[in-house]
Amino acid sequence: MQCAITVSPLTPTFGAEVLGLHPQTVSDSWPQLRDAFRTHRLLVLRDLPLDEMQFTLLAQRLGPLEGRYVMRRSDGKASSPVHLIQNLDADGRVAANPYGNANYFWHTDKQYHLQPSLATLLQAMQIPPTGGTTEFADMSAAYEALAPAVRERIRGLRAVYSYPHMLRTCLKREPTAEEIEKTPPVDHPLVRTHPETGRASLFVGMYCCAIVGMPPQESCALLAQLQAHATDRRFVYAHAWQPKDLLMWDNRCLLHRAVADFDMARYRRVMRRTVVQGEVPV
Ligand SMILES: [Fe+2]
Repeated sequence: MQCAITVSPLTPTFGAEVLGLHPQTVSDSWPQLRDAFRTHRLLVLRDLPLDEMQFTLLAQRLGPLEGRYVMRRSDGKASSPVHLIQNLDADGRVAANPYGNANYFWHTDKQYHLQPSLATLLQAMQIPPTGGTTEFADMSAAYEALAPAVRERIRGLRAVYSYPHMLRTCLKREPTAEEIEKTPPVDHPLVRTHPETGRASLFVGMYCCAIVGMPPQESCALLAQLQAHATDRRFVYAHAWQPKDLLMWDNRCLLHRAVADFDMARYRRVMRRTVVQGEVPV
């Protein structure tokens, strides 16, 4: 079934709202959606109440789904490839913050893997009346806005990405032996090239802990400077969720974070999520 969709940019550099999709027309609209995803890198698919199978099939159009999860669900069990992110405790009661604070720091998903994720899909199942915002930052526009001398300084550098580093700095706790064993540090280019568009972007965020071969103090200062630059408000889009929104974004060139801007002890925020496997960054 063919159905016209409209794609409208959300910011001057990235993100687009897509209207006119229906669960039965996603398949026919996929070529247009795929092009829009390459161009805009964050798609806000409005009013698209996919069930779990339809959601899974949509994600798999981009590639195989990520199956390795170190972080546990609120009931202590391992996450499945398609899972819920929710502020509910193991008994299904509203809980202030069952996952800790990691989502509130700028990051890109699975950056601590040798093959960080290509994309993440997040679907609103239940949202608070206001708030529950998700923010995105454009690491390509941020890279292009750097002074030429800075671009020259960071050209060819590699950085180390570590899950235990995130636990220590964001969650303020030591990793367990299992977490250390499952997530050895990896290194990637600090400036990565998008495999489809050839566009360069900074590859920073909460897992990025050091620059290979650089003295620690200098490395820390440079990473802090780049991170502050990449998340300057001129590169940021703040998404105010509407019921039945489905977002898909390109983790290879965007940072994201949740914002703690609603009463988590009172309102449910339940999101369906999956992550698409990516390639080795170059
Ligand atoms: Fe995330």
